[in-house]
Amino acid sequence: MTAPDRAPVVARTPEELARIRAGLGRTALVPTMGALHSGHRGLIAAARGRAEAVVVSIFVNPLQFGPGEDFDRYPRAFEDDLRTCAEEGVDVVYAPAVEAMYPGEQLVTVDPGPMGHVLEGASRPGHFAGVLTVVAKLFHMVRPDVAVFGQKDAQQLAVIRRMVRDLAFGVTVVGVPTVRDSDGLATSSRNVYLSPAERTGALALSRALLAGADASVTGPVGILDAAREVLREAASSEAPVELDYLALVDAHTFAEVGADHRGEAVLLVAARVGSTRLIDNVPLTL
Ligand code: PAJ
Repeated sequence: MTAPDRAPVVARTPEELARIRAGLGRTALVPTMGALHSGHRGLIAAARGRAEAVVVSIFVNPLQFGPGEDFDRYPRAFEDDLRTCAEEGVDVVYAPAVEAMYPGEQLVTVDPGPMGHVLEGASRPGHFAGVLTVVAKLFHMVRPDVAVFGQKDAQQLAVIRRMVRDLAFGVTVVGVPTVRDSDGLATSSRNVYLSPAERTGALALSRALLAGADASVTGPVGILDAAREVLREAASSEAPVELDYLALVDAHTFAEVGADHRGEAVLLVAARVGSTRLIDNVPLTL
């Protein structure tokens, strides 16, 4: 018989968290917005292997949603999330209310710099300032030794790494490969928005990335052409895929690479299927 899952301790305010944190040793933080799925489970497993205690934060951060984005309808499933955390051996869940995280107007925010203004940053103005501000606050509140993020949000991971370096946070950032369903779709809290037809349409994102990866010996132009061809077909399918961007970027700077680029790169795609905006990416070596 396996031991029953132990429910994590729940902290709702910075003060409660500080009291609990004082009793923890080496700590890994997994920041999330909840509606936990297999991707989050992967991060928690990686965190457990790197620390004595694992803290998962669950906070739908209003600061990183633009006007007209899905903040209000973003899935919230706290009881399910607690069960998931118990199953994964999480020690502490930090789930502050908006007022606990932002007790007053947030006048000071973290500027993500040039890397935060391209691609996702261009499509979602202010998004990365919102992400970095909440991650910086979580780092101050949790004081983790290690923080774990997914490569699913590759630009977010790169911008967070850069903040940790440029602002000397002294936290070790760990990136975890993207978890996918068996059909290739990257798992995401937003996948619950998809109708069955839209879910089938959404598979074009991972198929396009795979086509690009398969063409990697042909260099940047061949990679982009192969991926674009898949997305072009998907634009006229039953649940059309409306492309926002397809880009091949340097893995460290997120600047688009030239035709003669060699070395590490990331092929990224963002698209809308119905009313759902999805992103995906694959790391490549050219
Ligand atoms: P959220 O979308 O909940 O994602 C939390 C973490 O899980 C992120 O690091 C994300 O990259 C990772 N993740 C999501 N889907 C994944 C998948 N299929 N495979 C691997 N990792 C995956 O990202 C955020 O929340 C927020 O921006 C946050 C960092 C919490 C700040 O509010």
